[in-house]
Amino acid sequence: MDFRGTHIISVKQFERNDVERVFEVADSMEPFAHRNQISKVLEGAILGNMFFEPSTRTRVSFGCAFNLLGGHVRETTDVETSSIVKGESLYDTARVISGYSDVIVMRHPQTGSVAEFSKASRVPVINGGDGANEHPSQALLDLYTIKKELDSNSRQIDGMSIAMVGDLKHGRTVHSLSQLLYLYDNIKFTLISPAELKMPGDIVGSLKNAGHTVTETADMESGLNDNDTIYLTRIQEERFNTKLEADIYRGRFRLNQAIYTRNCQPNTVIMHPLPRDSRVEANELDHDLNQHPNLAIFRQTDNGVLIRMALFALVLDVADKTARNSIEVEWYTEKRFN
Ligand code: CP
Repeated sequence: MDFRGTHIISVKQFERNDVERVFEVADSMEPFAHRNQISKVLEGAILGNMFFEPSTRTRVSFGCAFNLLGGHVRETTDVETSSIVKGESLYDTARVISGYSDVIVMRHPQTGSVAEFSKASRVPVINGGDGANEHPSQALLDLYTIKKELDSNSRQIDGMSIAMVGDLKHGRTVHSLSQLLYLYDNIKFTLISPAELKMPGDIVGSLKNAGHTVTETADMESGLNDNDTIYLTRIQEERFNTKLEADIYRGRFRLNQAIYTRNCQPNTVIMHPLPRDSRVEANELDHDLNQHPNLAIFRQTDNGVLIRMALFALVLDVADKTARNSIEVEWYTEKRFN
């Protein structure tokens, strides 16, 4: 893919070598993300960070990534404070905001909305999550984390096994991650969900057609056996018609220390896109695993900054220029990165 000026809407745009290029650039961002050096390569550039749905990680880490490259961030953080509530169309919003920005990140509750927005935008648009459809930057940071975790066990993505657990119907992160793993060889997927919240059939079909092994089950403990990675998701309450409907499934699949010890391998990596639903009635990933060395959830969030810096650098065509005129960090910092 030629990243320069390209909208990043779906993981389906990526070939395997594109994914590897993103990872290579993400690696090169470590000195800046880890506060050893300052880059000003995007000095003067403006990010339009448009979030029409709640977000902590995606919104802040995209903004942080842009700042770390020297750029400025302008944000809209909900529909209520934007002129969308006055009936403004995505087309008009895109025409206007793209006049103010050099690149736009957008999250929106409707499937396909970011693609529609991008058609009217005069600058590249990156999908920060469109409804239950896709979350491509999350999938890239998840796969980057999986690669790093497997590397540390002398394993590789080809031939790996992964259990995806929870609301696989509405979880855009598992939709995008599955479709990135599709690009690799001989992946063993175990999809653990209630029958009503299964992974969409078209995604399962394409994985099988590509030669991957897919097992679907509602029995969590048997499904957890023999996996390199467990990827948990929360019940996506915001995609159900009512809270009562979501309550039917909440708390049905939970991982805690006892279940992990009983069913998982010593090296099984625990992942979750976050936020985890820590309310007692949900608690799909128990805090009793917080100190477990295989819990990678905060390595995922740190890696998100590297991946999002890489996407900006590639789309704005400065990937080979970030170190130019960089300077040493002078403020006190003891931030630790794993
Ligand atoms: N993983 C993720 O998308 O988190 P936020 O909803 O907080 O952005």
